[in-house]
Amino acid sequence: FGYINYLVEKDRRYILDTLVNGLSRLEYRGYDSAGLAVDGDKKNEVFAFKEVGKVAKLKALIEEEKPDFTKVFDSHVGIAHTRWATHGPPSRLNCHPHRSDPKWEFSVVHNGIITNYKELRALLESKGFRFETETDTEAIAKLAKYIYDEHPTIDFTVLAKAVIKELQGAFGLLLKSVHYPHEVIAARKGSPLVVGVRTQKKMKVDFVDVEYSQEGEALPAEQASQNLAMKKNNTLLGANLGANLLAPPDKSLLHRSQSRAFLSDDGAPMPTEFFLSSDPSAIVEHTKKVLYLEDDDIAHIHEGQLNIHRLSKVDGASNARAIQTLEIELQEMMKGSFDHFMQKEIFEQPESVVNAMRGRLDVANKKVTLGGLRQYIDTIRRCRRLIFLACGTSYHSCMAVRGIFEELTEIPISVELASDFLDRQAPVFRDDTCIFVSQSGETADSLMALRHCLERGALTVGIVNVVGSSISLLTHCGVHINAGPEIGVASTKAYTSQFVCMVMFALSLSEDKYSKQHRREEIMEGLAKISDQFKEALKMDQTIKQLCQKFKDQKSLLLLGRGAQHATALEGALKIKEISYLHCEAVMSGELKHGVLALVDENLPIVMILTRDPLFAKSLNAYQQVIARKGRPIVICNQNDAEFPGEKTDKIEVPRTVDVLQGLLNVIPLQLMAYWLAVAEGLNVDFPRNLAKSVTVE
Ligand code: G6P
Repeated sequence: FGYINYLVEKDRRYILDTLVNGLSRLEYRGYDSAGLAVDGDKKNEVFAFKEVGKVAKLKALIEEEKPDFTKVFDSHVGIAHTRWATHGPPSRLNCHPHRSDPKWEFSVVHNGIITNYKELRALLESKGFRFETETDTEAIAKLAKYIYDEHPTIDFTVLAKAVIKELQGAFGLLLKSVHYPHEVIAARKGSPLVVGVRTQKKMKVDFVDVEYSQEGEALPAEQASQNLAMKKNNTLLGANLGANLLAPPDKSLLHRSQSRAFLSDDGAPMPTEFFLSSDPSAIVEHTKKVLYLEDDDIAHIHEGQLNIHRLSKVDGASNARAIQTLEIELQEMMKGSFDHFMQKEIFEQPESVVNAMRGRLDVANKKVTLGGLRQYIDTIRRCRRLIFLACGTSYHSCMAVRGIFEELTEIPISVELASDFLDRQAPVFRDDTCIFVSQSGETADSLMALRHCLERGALTVGIVNVVGSSISLLTHCGVHINAGPEIGVASTKAYTSQFVCMVMFALSLSEDKYSKQHRREEIMEGLAKISDQFKEALKMDQTIKQLCQKFKDQKSLLLLGRGAQHATALEGALKIKEISYLHCEAVMSGELKHGVLALVDENLPIVMILTRDPLFAKSLNAYQQVIARKGRPIVICNQNDAEFPGEKTDKIEVPRTVDVLQGLLNVIPLQLMAYWLAVAEGLNVDFPRNLAKSVTVE
């Protein structure tokens, strides 16, 4: 998170509070330590504060250290970060911002991973730099200083480009320097970055592509466009480590293409504040005017202006980025009357599934319209294969809808864990359609798999919650699931909304299949009723809380399901493991007799999903096998199912819907179970240990 004020007087208290507050909004993404860097009392001085643990501890540390809170800055750059350890354990030292040297000539905060940091480190060490941390990020700050020392008159953007040219891997980063007071660089490749803008006068924001002459002068517009047409791709400073690192930078080349947001209508400097963040949730309380940076964008903020440069220019492409208005409201981000975000999100599902279907499902006319797929739907119908790629909960939602895609589309389907798919470097062809399902749209494994598929010419579809996320930008087409911000690390409402969107996708693909019409109508009618049935299912909340007492002091739990309900079991088991830390294993009921049955006795807690579907009779076999081994399973069944008389069985009754939608309702008791198990243990439901909401590293 970064905060920059220009000609807007702010005292240090305000600057620090803004940064700390920004970090607490981002805390759900990872939270083992936090830090920030702001200007010190003297010129060229930097104050940095770093603390292990939650953002609240950083705040306490700042209060303890008592910098002069009253000092006022007319223009100022502050950068801040909340870390989730990848390289180097959580510690004050390893926490961001990282610095080039003890005087903090350059400071950097960084999300993502620099894969060639070892080579960079070796090079810089050979040039006399002493590294003080185990992180990959530190190499960025030191590289900046190294290049600066070689070229002390260099522009900040030229310097930033030279640094970024050397970085491999993924990053969203902010760079600040005492040599460029009141300027900041924000660059992204693979990790999201959003810029929020607030002006005091009515804002006129205009992006103009600015072209520069060899001498570095801005050219008039017509000449600029002629130049643009003639220009070849720019190759800038040394592309490879060490090779040309010391070559004098060619400023005119570097400045040839950029876009500038003019933040004033009369050309006079305009008081401006910028908020930089990896996530709009930290910006929305300050301003609703944002723009999303794209990969290879290098944004330079200076004197109230935002200039976007590209690492290498594609001829004819504009660097202008649309200014968008954020639609999320701050209260959406807040917990409201709930104790935890996860609880709130579980209870939001009757509403979030409606939002997934709004304007898309038209039951009266038996039609599904997914605007984001319109142009491609015919191509997808003709593809040779549908490959679903995802991680974690999103992977489970793909498993849950595999059957309905096979049934309605009759196209071969595979469902893949993104990491495994990449490990295998699995074959992908031009006539494949690859569907990327992700709540955040930023999961590194899924993003890398997306790049793998794009390189091989496949058509790519995103099913994503976060608008403007990398997956939604990079895929050819897609569907936003519109679940609203999901804060709890354990995904709940995103799962059910992904499920609903994918069912609508299958319905849309099969629109032209005459033989499927009856089935399609049945599913559409089911979808129309599902929100009310969610409300009904959520009434079990307190019953489930009671039931969870049975699992007290247990070491392990089995969850059994068959067919699509195996996906429900997988998702339920993940929820329970994630937040209650109770070992829980999902077993495909048909496989029980092939090994897992050996675990069953009168003590092992077992939950069996036994709602009605065409596999019900087979699922009952597994039930009988468990009973025969003196097991006492808890059954998730449909309401008033005579097969499970009340007095004999511990049961959780869910409303009945169309078989292919039943998983939407069956997962509710498992989400609640995970929640209440974690609460009973006094665990941190929204921030389970070792996990992050958005895993932007491989
Ligand atoms: C992380 C989260 C999981 C999530 C998975 C995939 O591991 O902790 O809750 O399911 O990433 O995330 P995505 O944003 O791609 O759906």
